[in-house]
Amino acid sequence: MPTQRKILVTSALPYANGPIHLGHLLEYIQTDIWTRFQKSRGNTCTYVCADDAHGTAIMLRAEQEGITSQQLIDRVRQEHHQDFQDFHIRFDNYYSTHSDENRYFSELIYTRLRDKGHIATREIEQMYDPEKGLFLADRFIKGTCPKCKAEDQYGDNCEKCGATYTPAELIDPRSAISGATPVMKSSEHYFFKLQDFTDFLQDWTQTGRLQEQIANKLKEWLDAGLQEWDISRDAPYFGFEIPDAPGKYFYVWLDAPIGYLASFKNLCEQRDDLDFDDYWKADSQNEVYHFIGKDIVNFHALFWPAMLSGADFRTPNSVYCHGFVTVNGAKMSKSRGTFIKARTYLDHLNPEYLRYYFAAKLTGRVDDLDLNLEDFVFRVNSDLVGKLVNIASRCAGFVKKAGGTLSEMKEPELYQRFVAAEEAIAADYERREYGRAVRQIMDLADEANTWINDQQPWVLAKEEGKGDEVQAICSTGINLFRVLMTYLAPVLPEMAEKTLAFLKIDALDWAGIQQPLVGHEIAKFKPMISRVDKDTIEALLEASREDAKKEMALKEASVSSNPGGEQGPLQADPLAEEISFDDFIKVDLRIARITRCEHVEKANKLLKLTLDLGGETRTVFSGIKKAYQPEDLEGKLTVLVANLAPRKMKFGVSEGMVLAAGDDDGIYLLEPHEGAKPGMRVV
Ligand code: 2FM
Ligand code: ZN
Repeated sequence: MPTQRKILVTSALPYANGPIHLGHLLEYIQTDIWTRFQKSRGNTCTYVCADDAHGTAIMLRAEQEGITSQQLIDRVRQEHHQDFQDFHIRFDNYYSTHSDENRYFSELIYTRLRDKGHIATREIEQMYDPEKGLFLADRFIKGTCPKCKAEDQYGDNCEKCGATYTPAELIDPRSAISGATPVMKSSEHYFFKLQDFTDFLQDWTQTGRLQEQIANKLKEWLDAGLQEWDISRDAPYFGFEIPDAPGKYFYVWLDAPIGYLASFKNLCEQRDDLDFDDYWKADSQNEVYHFIGKDIVNFHALFWPAMLSGADFRTPNSVYCHGFVTVNGAKMSKSRGTFIKARTYLDHLNPEYLRYYFAAKLTGRVDDLDLNLEDFVFRVNSDLVGKLVNIASRCAGFVKKAGGTLSEMKEPELYQRFVAAEEAIAADYERREYGRAVRQIMDLADEANTWINDQQPWVLAKEEGKGDEVQAICSTGINLFRVLMTYLAPVLPEMAEKTLAFLKIDALDWAGIQQPLVGHEIAKFKPMISRVDKDTIEALLEASREDAKKEMALKEASVSSNPGGEQGPLQADPLAEEISFDDFIKVDLRIARITRCEHVEKANKLLKLTLDLGGETRTVFSGIKKAYQPEDLEGKLTVLVANLAPRKMKFGVSEGMVLAAGDDDGIYLLEPHEGAKPGMRVV
């Protein structure tokens, strides 16, 4: 056995303003498998994480929900923690960046950097929302793309034509929070002089510690020259105030990675066997690894090692980067139901299916991983149920019948060959080549099944005097199963637990398989995992579509408290589910004449329409402001959903909905051909 390593591992800290979804889970499952593997190999491996609790988005979300930021982050942290637990992600500590420890380390690192001259200050001009009293990050500014003129584009790039620009270049910019027209305003900002660390980072990024794809990307950035990094945000901001700089806060990305230190420190306070300095002092020989997604490499492989090194802490051994999750070959999509929340998944499927599927497809590279749902069903059923558990289930009955105690094995050499695979499998786990490890393990499972098939214990069992041989065959099978489950335990912790109960043993760790179980009593076999059923997948997709609809409805409802959250009439699900004719006929569509049309004060998207339905008058608020001047609509006919339940909005009650077509380029109210009369039913 190699000497025991002491390893600290982290996953990226999820933002405390939204639920965990399958895209997140790839990383936590990847990291959890790695840490469980390290523990199983006898290493000391500590896995910490936390919620990333600061920033404008969290502050605004809390405001939208009518609660304090503290209440929001406390609730979301609980939800995240529960989701992770239910996916068997076994953190040693799950903390929050809004903690005393994190404030302490953020201040410490900042003041050390400042005292060494790595902090600069200067005035910068930024867009400011005069209504909200907030400086606006690019994603909180929307407007018309200066290049292709697509409306409703974010402040830094156009989703339509791909152009990048500054918010100042947007045509007709507006605050996505209040709808107000932003103004330019200057204020003093604090900068971390990243360029001071150019030589250090050249070395740190290019000497074999990072994945090749990542090192190459970083080289491009380094060659282009490093810039100062803006680490301050003006009040109001949910975060930590910068020491000696009233009204200035650390940008969320400054204190987020420091959250790794804070979570570990918090754990050290609870545990006698862990010492903070032992892992973080500049010359520590223990190992530190950060698992992250490819979108946050700059923060982890430039800013973070530079900050640590500048503040006299050790830097990580490596940053392990993974790609994104796609589902059925495409980006996760709310309308297709493939944007799947962790909780919704758990309501339908066993977490170990996903752990196994991700593991079977993970490599040590940065490639995206496709969750192909058909393949998912196939692999889980064929590998876990058809191959792996099958070995135990077909042997256990015979062993039990003969008294329940494992005998000498019929073929110890076969067992030895299974054990001999350990180094190759371990090497794959270590390099995060889980797919290769799983393939090796499944090849062995095939071998075990073939061997049992050839031995035909069920035939021998019917023959006189073959009881011992049957017992020896089946004891071999059960021991092979134990080896395979040991190899797969980091991936399948729940099945590993069930295996412990079945085999009546305390641990399934790497060291244990050197000795087969002989003369050892086992328990009655109980099914360990069931088959995935295709209908459940359908139900999961349907539930995820429902989640998306609920979320949309919530956003619409928040119009009353957040005008920036208004939805236009065009947010309908582009791939709405099929409905029956009976469903359709329930919708009472009527021709209506717009007798009055008015602006709505403080609403960015809404016009107030007074409609005549052939005698009956209705008031409807419609998100069509950007397309029409009120006076142009007066007198026109349109189509009204007349039996829609009235909706209470900030500006009044909307009694129905007018129909409009549109996309990013425009909105077009439907108008009937000449001759239609107000009140006519549309069929
Ligand atoms: O991208 C994100 O979701 C960030 N909340 C990750 C932070 S990782 C670390 F730096 F804290
Ligand atoms: Zn454009």
